[in-house]
Amino acid sequence: MKNCFFCILFPLIFSFHENDKGIDNMDQALYKNADFSVGVAIKIKRLKNDAIYKRLVLEQFNSFTAENIMKPSYLHPEKDVFYFEDADYLAEFCKKNNKRLHGHTLVWHKSLPPWIENFKGNKAAWEAMLKEHIKTIIIHYKGYINSWDVVNEAFNDDGSLRKNIWLKNIGESYIEKSFIYANEADSSAKLFYNDFNLEASRTKLNTVLQFVAELKSRGIKIDGIGMQMHVKHYYPDINAINQAAFKVQENGLLVHYSELSVSLNKKNKNLTLTNEMLTLQKKKIKEIVEGYMKLKKDAQFGITVWGLSDPAVAWQRDKNNDWPFLFDQNYNPKPAYYGFLEALTENQKN
Ligand code: XIL
Repeated sequence: MKNCFFCILFPLIFSFHENDKGIDNMDQALYKNADFSVGVAIKIKRLKNDAIYKRLVLEQFNSFTAENIMKPSYLHPEKDVFYFEDADYLAEFCKKNNKRLHGHTLVWHKSLPPWIENFKGNKAAWEAMLKEHIKTIIIHYKGYINSWDVVNEAFNDDGSLRKNIWLKNIGESYIEKSFIYANEADSSAKLFYNDFNLEASRTKLNTVLQFVAELKSRGIKIDGIGMQMHVKHYYPDINAINQAAFKVQENGLLVHYSELSVSLNKKNKNLTLTNEMLTLQKKKIKEIVEGYMKLKKDAQFGITVWGLSDPAVAWQRDKNNDWPFLFDQNYNPKPAYYGFLEALTENQKN
């Protein structure tokens, strides 16, 4: 085995092939230039099967979030069946490679398994089911995951509560119950409320912050807010984004830009990507990172981008293309990548 010709030749061919894509200079790693965590949403199939993808996420990021495989329909497909295999793979991978794994997500109106959608029972039965769901998952990942998006997208943009099955069957206390169960399962874990448009809708942000403050005043543990940050290159305005983040910080909460993506396709037209669009995206990313860096260190949970490379995933677009990420479809860094990096390098040295 030791002197096998192919054993020597094959890795050489592979490493040569891998290095023709992505960043050549390892010092350019985003997370190595940041004094907060820089994360990425992980597609498990690519992590397992795509060597360049794997190399880039390892090289550039120090915090991982599962894009899909830790959602209820994946982890809890049937009432008494939990499916941990893929998420365990990711958890072991993170442990081995010294990456933070952020848990996403326990309670949501989407990605529900049919058995939850069809669950029959009174309020107490729903609460017991919710409790078992949350506790089993958190306890399973104790020691691997130390932060969770406990409740995802519970509010509408107008500040009203989203009419989901949890609200319908438990009432608005499903939110506080979820945080209570999560804290009972792992009192050392950082617990987040995660939502979109918090940077764009003042009404939504104010309602969420008031709601969270009221829960905290009753001793319920919530540590931070995940601001998803699916933005467009022209909206919201950077001042609105920064003000929203400062408001979260002023409320004594951690700020996680939990799903950053900067959309370029304004009206979902059949566009081709231009240099001008790439430059606008770079500017936006740079401003967003610079604004984030002005938060207090102890409020910075990190910035997570919701994908490594273009194009946009299906839910982000209608039928046309979009290019919201830092790397292109060939895994080459885009201007947006350098915008992120420049924000880090130019501002931290001051
Ligand atoms: C999205 C994934 O990116 C897609 O692959 C999946 O088909 C649907 O969910 N808000 C969230 C994320 O909290 O979990 C969503 O992720 C995007 C919006």
